Amino acid sequence: MHQSTHVKTEFAAVSAKPEEVNADLCVIPVFDGEDGFQDLPDLDAATGHEISRAQQSGEFRGRLYEWFLAPLSGGKWTAKRVVLIGAGRPANLTVEIVRRVAAAAGYVARNRAVGSVAWIVRPMAGLKPAEIAQAAADGLSAAEFESGSYKNREDVRGKFPSRVMIASTSPIADAVAQGRIIGESANATRTLCNEPGNVLTPREFASRVAAMSSAVGLGAEIIDEEGIRKLKMGLLLGVAQGSAEPPRLIVIRHDPPGAPASPVLGFVGKGITFDSGGISIKPAEGMERMKDDMAGGAAVAGALRALALLKCPYRVIGVIPTTENMPGGRATRPGDVLTGASGKTVEVINTDAEGRLILGDALWYAQQLGATHLVDVATLTGACMVALGRVASGLFGNPESWVDTVRDAATRAGDRVWPMPLYDEYREQLRSEIADIVNSAGRPAGAVTAAWFLREFVDDRPWAHLDIAGTAWAEERKAYQPKGATGVAVRLLIELALSGAGTSS
Ligand code: BES
Ligand code: MN
Ligand code: ZN
Repeated sequence: MHQSTHVKTEFAAVSAKPEEVNADLCVIPVFDGEDGFQDLPDLDAATGHEISRAQQSGEFRGRLYEWFLAPLSGGKWTAKRVVLIGAGRPANLTVEIVRRVAAAAGYVARNRAVGSVAWIVRPMAGLKPAEIAQAAADGLSAAEFESGSYKNREDVRGKFPSRVMIASTSPIADAVAQGRIIGESANATRTLCNEPGNVLTPREFASRVAAMSSAVGLGAEIIDEEGIRKLKMGLLLGVAQGSAEPPRLIVIRHDPPGAPASPVLGFVGKGITFDSGGISIKPAEGMERMKDDMAGGAAVAGALRALALLKCPYRVIGVIPTTENMPGGRATRPGDVLTGASGKTVEVINTDAEGRLILGDALWYAQQLGATHLVDVATLTGACMVALGRVASGLFGNPESWVDTVRDAATRAGDRVWPMPLYDEYREQLRSEIADIVNSAGRPAGAVTAAWFLREFVDDRPWAHLDIAGTAWAEERKAYQPKGATGVAVRLLIELALSGAGTSS
């Protein structure tokens, strides 16, 4: 199915001065307006002063993702060519920007089909060499991602280098290894999201996640339809019954020896492999996008893969309910009442509000399995996309201190989130005449009422919800990212677990 002949690239930390690095292409990040490179005194001369010429003429200024390529001949430099890549203004620099700049450089290297590329770690606006190295390895990995796996013709966008180096005279080996694992894991998530619904059915999703998990030593369990019925997950079954494809419940366990009994992080991800809307069917326009409605589940799977490889010292459980949402003859009707595993009854007003239904049962199950702190990730509402666009994921939860913990991890990881309120008054919109709650509370505050619905399935333990409806999928190609799945939330979840979130509360 994957036609590409690309063999996985080798990433290495290289302890060397910039001019000693042996690569087909050296990448030098350059700030907007920066001139004269004090840390690279011979670089300009080695390009026959092409760099100073380009800077004087205005051909290259260092604006974000702008790039300038020149051959290296003469001087002390060993590398064959150099690409300067714009890093924008130093005041705006974050690890996320470094990661994106590295990805953009990775695409330049890829388009030129160079065999080896080396990122030169330079002093950058207060970031530590290890932080830069990790972000560079992560970002360069992103450019390895293949989005056209079903094209018969070999990729027109060149070939990713077979060797990537991150060069510094500071110790960065661990940072490079970590960045590489994170980047590869985010790519695994993106690959799953890009898969079409006819290929990535719930059964296929479950078996790929299980394979990906056991390959890194994680315990993975797939619960089939019968098992789901035994657990009395009437909400998950209610969504699945309109489809010819059976549902699955995926459970991944990271249980490192010697881990403290608490915290046990519970990561829960929405796994709708295709969302037609069901009987409350969606309009045709853009419906093909709904193959990525399992992006939350894929993010959970990708994060757990990374946490196993990074030997996270804390316990983490991943729970991914997966099904299609289809309008078959046995489908749930608007007005039907479903009973979830927790016993709570739900009047289904709109069958297109299916994500919260399957997550209700999955959140309950994560608590049954002993999760002490919960985070769910879901492409949950169009309303969240209306509120925050494609720039930030919505963050909801309770209590405030846990929401803050998640928010801080997001900031460090460069996975942007913005907090949204869960005032008690919003809860009133969930009132049903016939059942405990309705699944759809109308247009006002649609992202908030969806989160409130999820909260109904969590007892008083810490819980946060990330609505990634706007951020999971890029509608436009950028210098650092093709159209399609973004791998959002993978880095946030990794950072949250590695930082020992929940150890003190
Ligand atoms: N998967 C969608 C949400 C979505 C919309 C994700 C657009 C990405 C892009 C979700 O299942 C859904 O259909 N939500 C409805 C809820 C409504 C019926 C209460 C929505 O947002 O319209
Ligand atoms: Mn839907
Ligand atoms: Zn959905």
